[in-house]
Formats: sequence, structure tokens, C-alpha cells
Amino acid sequence: IGTNSLDERCNQILRNMEASLTARDRVGIQDFVLLDAYTSESAFLDNLRKRFHENLIYTYIGTLLVSVNPYKELDIYSKKQMDTYMGVNFFELPPHIYALADNVFRTMQSEFNNHFILISGESGAGKTEASKKILQFYAVSCPSTKLLNNVRDRLLLSNPVLEAFGNAKTLKNDNSSRFGKYMDIQFDHQGGAVGGHILSYLLEKSRVVHQNHGERNFHIFYQLVEGGEEDLLRWLGLERNCQHYSYLVQGGCAKVSSINDKSDWRMVQKALSVIEFNESDIEHLFGIIASVLHLGNIKFVADVRGYASLNNNQEMHWVSKLLGIPAQVLQQGLTHRKIEAKAEEVFSPFSVDHAVYARDALAKAIYGRTFNWLVNKINESLANKDSSRKTVIGLLDIYGFEVFNVNSFEQFCINYCNEKLQQLFIQLTLKSEQEEYEMEGIEWEPVPYFNNKIICDLVEEKHRGIISLLDEECLRPGEATDLTLLEKMEETIGGHPHFVTHKLADQKTRKTLERGDFRLLHYAGEVTYCVVGFLDKNNDLLYRNGKEVMRQSKNAIIKHCFPSTEPDSKRRPETVVTQFKSSLVGLTEILMSKEPWYVRCIKPNEAKQPGRFDDVLVRHQVKYLGLMEHLRVRRAGFAYRRKYDIFLQRYKPLCPDTWPNWKGTAAEGVRCLIKHLGYKPDEYKMGRSKIFIRHPRTLFATEDAFQVCKHKLATRIQAKYKGYRVKGDYQKQRDAATKIENCWRGIMARKEREKRAWAVKVIKKFIKGFITRNQPACNDNSEYLAYVRQNYLTRLRENLPKTVLEKDSWLTPPPIMKEVGDMFLTPAVYSRKSLVLKAQTSSMFKGKKENYPFSVCRPFVDTRIGKRYSVPVVKYDRNGFRPRLRQLIFTQEAAYLVEEAKIKQRIDYISLKGVSVSNLSDNFLILHVTCDDIKQKGDLVLQCDYLFEALTKLSVIANKQNYIKVVQGSVRFDIQPGREGFVDFKSGQESMVYRAKNGHLMVVSVKIIKGSC
Ligand SMILES: Nc1ncnc2c1ncn2[C@@H]1O[C@H](COP(=O)(O)OP(=O)(O)O)[C@@H](O)[C@H]1O
Ligand SMILES: [Mg+2]
Repeated sequence: IGTNSLDERCNQILRNMEASLTARDRVGIQDFVLLDAYTSESAFLDNLRKRFHENLIYTYIGTLLVSVNPYKELDIYSKKQMDTYMGVNFFELPPHIYALADNVFRTMQSEFNNHFILISGESGAGKTEASKKILQFYAVSCPSTKLLNNVRDRLLLSNPVLEAFGNAKTLKNDNSSRFGKYMDIQFDHQGGAVGGHILSYLLEKSRVVHQNHGERNFHIFYQLVEGGEEDLLRWLGLERNCQHYSYLVQGGCAKVSSINDKSDWRMVQKALSVIEFNESDIEHLFGIIASVLHLGNIKFVADVRGYASLNNNQEMHWVSKLLGIPAQVLQQGLTHRKIEAKAEEVFSPFSVDHAVYARDALAKAIYGRTFNWLVNKINESLANKDSSRKTVIGLLDIYGFEVFNVNSFEQFCINYCNEKLQQLFIQLTLKSEQEEYEMEGIEWEPVPYFNNKIICDLVEEKHRGIISLLDEECLRPGEATDLTLLEKMEETIGGHPHFVTHKLADQKTRKTLERGDFRLLHYAGEVTYCVVGFLDKNNDLLYRNGKEVMRQSKNAIIKHCFPSTEPDSKRRPETVVTQFKSSLVGLTEILMSKEPWYVRCIKPNEAKQPGRFDDVLVRHQVKYLGLMEHLRVRRAGFAYRRKYDIFLQRYKPLCPDTWPNWKGTAAEGVRCLIKHLGYKPDEYKMGRSKIFIRHPRTLFATEDAFQVCKHKLATRIQAKYKGYRVKGDYQKQRDAATKIENCWRGIMARKEREKRAWAVKVIKKFIKGFITRNQPACNDNSEYLAYVRQNYLTRLRENLPKTVLEKDSWLTPPPIMKEVGDMFLTPAVYSRKSLVLKAQTSSMFKGKKENYPFSVCRPFVDTRIGKRYSVPVVKYDRNGFRPRLRQLIFTQEAAYLVEEAKIKQRIDYISLKGVSVSNLSDNFLILHVTCDDIKQKGDLVLQCDYLFEALTKLSVIANKQNYIKVVQGSVRFDIQPGREGFVDFKSGQESMVYRAKNGHLMVVSVKIIKGSC
């Protein structure tokens, strides 16, 4: 949770509040609860008027929204406005219908329960507009996905379709809803709008065939005639002229400036396609609408017997074509009624009046049933098939209280409905409020309010109520008329304080009543009803024949609306008013199970004019809407109440004693909590199960504190968690370090142990060597002896005698080196001459020939026979390389190769070109001689055990040090002049001399390892 975004949000709220605190918004009080003179109707009205003139049409009474119709477009419904109101506390911004909608939505989300918004007010007060605004707000504010957008579009577009078919211009409102509408919007647990359902109530069907002066039929007829494409009209047999249709001209105002039928038509077309109406549905639908117009134009003439007849009627043929009913059948149906007499069926002809009546009944039935079909069809498209639990916000936009100059059955039903809704409002607010205080044991000053139950009873009470009397008159045999109904009412309820007729009235009142009138004193005012037509409209009789004719229709919608399974009217169907009464009972049940919210709409003037505030008209509405009582209850009571456990659960982080857990009862916890928060005694009351908070601001302060605290808590939890994570990491690292340390120590200890074991072995060996030092060299003493030798030699190097001849000054060698010691003492060996020779040998061979180092310790002998130097050699024949034992003798002038006493070859030193030896451990030498003479023998290939000694001697005698070459690999020699031979040298496992395949002499020598001698 970013504190930044919180700050930003706070700033935004502040900015918005500042913006809204412009001079304009300071006008008046935003919430009537804050009105000082809260009991004064004038003060109430003043505030409302002040705000109205500043275009501030919304004002609160607590959470109830009062809305005054501005009769002009205000720039307060933009997307920006919606964003501003989203997720903001109720009282933080100026009152708005969006604030209410948002609050309902958020309460639903947090409490996961169902709600409804009751929009009431008289006709033209702005109910339908308000419900549209709410729907639009949800469409924008709810989470959106592609799927949800689909549902959203359908929810939004169901409106223009229903309005086209169910709304009409009346004297009160150019777009008056002529049916009641209750719409459920279903939300999933994430707040996405996932579906909807519409219930419609009592469409004013009589409008199809009759309109009062200044009123119109349902919009759709005009839209079709004005906006329908040429082709369509031709196909429907219609002309583009409303004046042509008798069902459209009775009010004398087919064209109205505030209504654009053409553009509305396009809107409806678009909407129909979005809510899944296919081509054939649309075709059938407009076939029906056109049929109704044609029906209205059907004229009957009286034949000779006075019966209705209809000859070659064009309009009738169009109906026949469009509804797919054989003309013959239709004609019969329009001019005759079917009577069942015992087993027989008899067709009895209508009089002209009767025929007109039957025709109108048919038109109304067709339109009414088609409207129901339309609602069902829309519901199918809005239905959410997913069965997971949804929460619901219901929107009730029902026809408002209506008073015309002449009021009939329709107004009676509409006003009865409003009476019922007022009763519901009273039950849900005023009464329940007081009851709750009583139940919670909280002191309560009773607020007097007018309970309209008495009027509801007057209308709907069993046996005695107007509805019962009306039904009775409709159903009883004999000659019942509207006037007999009036008499019956006078008889039964004549004494009722809210009922008056011409006969019952006093002198003064009588003047305002006609003979056929009765007057009801509704909660919203007096309404005089003209009793004419009550019975008829309540019966809503469609002759059985009419239904049968419709059943033959090929039009799919008509077929659906007049199913053959419908029970025949042997038993009378329920009367209209009874159906309406039960549908209102159903509605009340739906509403009672939900949390209520209210929008009370007020009409500022009768002229539909902007900026005109008619005090008398508004005062009247304020009165009958019960706004003053509501305000008084609000002021006397407490703005908010919450069950202790819910309140504690939410706000317990605000007090250290209740956080994180409270041990005692919830009530005690709340007491402790509010003490900590510093609630003043008059700000709250503790009930039996709930806390009551008087002012919204107290709760909002608490809520704000909670929001801040929530972020702090979140930060703390975050910090704790981070600490926990870091600690975990640290422990891991520490464990790893310990492990590595242990391993390392182990390695070091093992190394130490090995070292010690080695040392023990070495010491042991040393001791053993010492013990066995005098025994012949063996494994046990070899190292010790080597050490002794080395030690002796090291010492010797430092203590060499000054002269060679100082025999006694040589260090006494250890016993194993006795031999060497003797050698030192032999002067011959260390004669100067001999050392000079050794030095020469060294310069010739050191580092060049492998086996040189082993020759160092072998003393040279001066002579091996007599005065000359002689040495035994093996000579290899030049041809075939056969070895032969010979003696090599060096004299002053020449070298001789001698066998026994026979000189085999003489080599003058002058003719000695050079001597080659290998660099390996063999003892071969090759004497290269110059041979000019072909008879002379070639080079000599010899092997000599005293190689170094012999060559050193030779080099000294012949003075030919530089002649001696140490070569690698191979030596070329002359077998005889012009013929060459080769000796190849290499190292091997075993020393060998042999003639190789290539004719070379191969000499393999074993590499002598240093120290093995
Ligand atoms: N909030 C509003 N802003 C502008 N005009 C409004 C508003 N509410 C109502 N009106 C005007 O008043 C007329 C009647 O309103 P409507 O909602 O149809 O009344 P009701 O449903 O209560 O009979 C609308 O057609 C519109 O012209
Ligand atoms: Mg309306």
C-alpha cells in the first residue's frame, strides 16, 4: 500500500472540496439535517429554493436525496463528475445522485447484501431521469471486461426500447412512464455488473386507443411513422403522416418540439440490435405496431339491420396480412361475437358501437401483450446464467402520483400504487426507526407523522375496500354500471374521512364535484375520479372470439402472446385491479427484503420551465412526500447505528486495548473504544445490541482515523514481514557459514593428521635406518644412508683440506663411505693431472651426454698397457656391423686398433676428422677419418666402456677437443670413401645393438636415472 497514492488521494479530495466550495456551492445547506430551524417548513423551502436558483438541484436529508427537476441540461453528469464521486465518502462532496449511487454500491460490496433505490415523486418530477443517471453511473464505475461491457450495454439500451413502447407524452411530462418499472442489477463479488432483470407493472393500455387532449399515444407509433424507412413503411402499408391514423390524433399534438421521433427511432433500432432482436423479431414487432394503427382506422357501417359491417376495408386487409390471419376470419372476429349456447356455438353480430369497442379491446390486448413479450425478451438478453451468489441493487422507477382535470381508472391505480410505496417508506423509515429505538431501549421523542395506512385500507381492504367493491360490481350478475358502483361505494364507505362524493359532500365541497365523481383524499392530496369507465377498464374484456382469432396468427409474437393453452374464459380472469394489487404485494415483498435508499423527486413548476420555483407546488410536495417528518426523525434520532460486533470488528485497531483482540463482550469493547476515541456523551447512545451515532461527522471522523490507521498497520505488518524475511535470510547465511567452516576445519584436520602420520613414518624410518646403518644397504636404511652421505659431503664441502696431500685433515667419512674415504687418500686418484683431465671431460660432455654424470666418480687411469694409453673396445664391422673385441691404443702420433698383437688399423691424428658420440646413455663413438685413398679403411664405429676416459685422453694426446661432437639421433659415417653408413641412437627399455631393416646400426640405450648408480 503506497503512502504516496494515499496522500495523492487525500490531496485530490481536498482539491475537489476546495473546488466545490466556490461561492456557488456555499449557497444553502447541503444537508437539511444541519438546518437550524429544522421544524420550519419555510426554512426548508427557502433552502431548497436558494439552491435551486443556483442550479444546485440535490440536497440531502441524511442519506435521503432530494432532487428538484431543473428542466434544463446541467453540466453535472460528465465522466469527470462520475470519477470525482467514485469511492468518496458521502459528505465529502456536494450532494449528487452519483454520491448516493456510489454509496449504495460500496455498502453492497462491503456488507454483501441487497439494496434498492426507491425513486419517488409525482409525474414529471425527474424519477426516470434519476434512474437513468444511476444506471449510467454504474455503467462507468463498475469494473469492466469485454463480457461485462456487453451486459452493461444491454442494461443501458434496454431503457430507450422500454421508453419507446411504454412512455408517452402526458400533460405532466413529455416522456411520462406509463408503466411501472423495477429493475434489478446483479453484481458479482468483485462488483462487476453481470446481469439484470426487469419487472414491469400495469401498462396504461387505454392510451393505445384513446388520448386526452394535449397527450400522445406511446412514442413508438410516432417514431415508426416519422422515422421508419420508406421500404419498411411500404411493407407495413403505412403512410408517413401521423394525422392519417385515428389512434394518433386524438390528443391533437402528434408533433412535440421537445421530442425528436426520428432520432429516437434510430436509437431504438440500434438498441434492438444490441439486445439480440433478430430480423424476424423486428419484422414481427413492427408488423404488430402497424396492425394496431390499421385497426384504429377500421371503420364500421351499420347494415340494414343495424349491425356492424365492414366492406372491402383496406385497413382490415393490412391487419390480415401483417398478422397472418385469414381476412375472412378477421372480419368475422371484428363484427361478431361468439356465444356458446349449450352444445352449440352461435355467432351474434355486433352493433357498430359494440364493434368499435371490440376493435379497441383487441388493439389494447395486442399492444399490452406485446409489451409484456418485449419485457420478457429483454430479460432473456439480460439474464445471467451463472448461478454463483450475486448481490443486487434494485431500481424502482414507477409512475408518480398523478392528478389531471379528469382522472380515471388509470389514475386510480397509479395513485394507489404511490399510496402503497409511501406506506412502505413509512414502514421502512419512520416507523421502523422508532421501533428500533424502542427495541434498543433508547429514549425516543415520538415524532408525529401522517400514516397513510388508513388510505391504503380504504382502497384495498377485503370486502369493504374500493377494490373489492369494484370487483364485486364487475362480477355480479345483473345490470351493473359505473353508477351502481358509485352507489355501492357510498353505501359501504360513505363515512370514511378520506372518501367523498357529490351526494356525501357538504355544500361547499359539492360545488367542486360532478354527480358521477368520487374523491379520495390521498396522502399527496385530493384527487377527484370520474367513475365512468371503471367497470369496463377493470374487466378489460376481450371477447373470446377475439382471442381465438389471434390464435390463428402467423406472426410469431402474436402466437406467443395468445397461446392456445390459455384457459378459455369460462371462468373469468382476474380483474385488472386485482392483478395490479397482487403485483404490488409482490413488489413490496421484493423491496422489504432489501436495504432501502431513497431519492425524492420534486417538480418545481407545472409548466416544465427551467428556473421557475413555484412555492405552493413545492411546499405541497415537501409536505406529502413526508420530507419534514423524515427530517425530524433524522434530527431526533441518530444518523448511524451499527451492531456492536460489526462496529468493534471494523474500528478495533483504533484503540490499543481492543487491538488486536478484545476479550470481553462486544458492547464493552465498543465502550472502551469510543472512550479512547473521545466521543462526547451527546454524540452517541449505547443500545441493547447497537451503538447509535448521532451525527454523520462523528462516524466519518472515526472512519477517516481508521483509514489512516489501516495504512499504518499495513506498514507495520509490512515491516514485520520484511524483518522476518531478512532474519530468515540471515539465519540461512549463518548456517551456510557454519557448514563451510566445519568442512574447512575437517579438511585442515585431515591434512594435519596426514602430515603427522607422514612425520611419524619418516621419524620411524630414520630411527630404523639409524639402527640398521651398519648393515648392507637395504630398504630400511637406504634413506638414512643417503642422508648420512649427503650430510658428510655437505660437511666436507665446508671443511676441505688446504692441500691435497694433507691426508690427515680429511674429515673421517662414515663407515658406509669408507671406500670413498680411501679414494680421497689415494694421491693418484686426485693427482692434479687427473683432476685436469676430469675438468676437461666435464667441459666436453657436461650437460651434453646423458651418461656423463655417472662417469664423474670413476677415476681415470693413466694407462692401461705400458706407457701408452690403451683401452678395450668393441668394434663394429663397417659391413654388417658384426661386433669384434679390439684394443684401442693411443700413441703420440696415432691411434691404433689392435687385435691381439696385430694392428688392424692405424689412424694418424692428422687424418682424424672428428669424433661423434650420441647424447644418450650408450657408449658408442665414431671416429671419422679422412680417406683420400680408396684402399684405406673408412670410419670406425666403436663401443667403449670407458668412453669418457678414452675420449678425454684422445683429446689431450691428439690435442683435438673440438673434434668431439655430441650429436642427436643419427650419425653419418663413411664405410669407405664414397659409401656412407648410419648409426641411429635412441632410448629404450633395454639396451640393444642391431642392424636395422634400413641397413643402419641401431643403438638402443637405457636411460640411466640419476641416483641409481
Ligand atoms: N436531472 C435532470 N436534468 C435535466 N432535466 C431533467 C432532469 N430530471 C428531469 N428532467 C426533465 O424533466 C422531464 C421529466 O422527467 P422524468 O424523469 O421523465 O419524470 P418522471 O419519471 O418523474 O415522470 C425529463 O424529460 C427532463 O426533460
Ligand atoms: Mg418516469
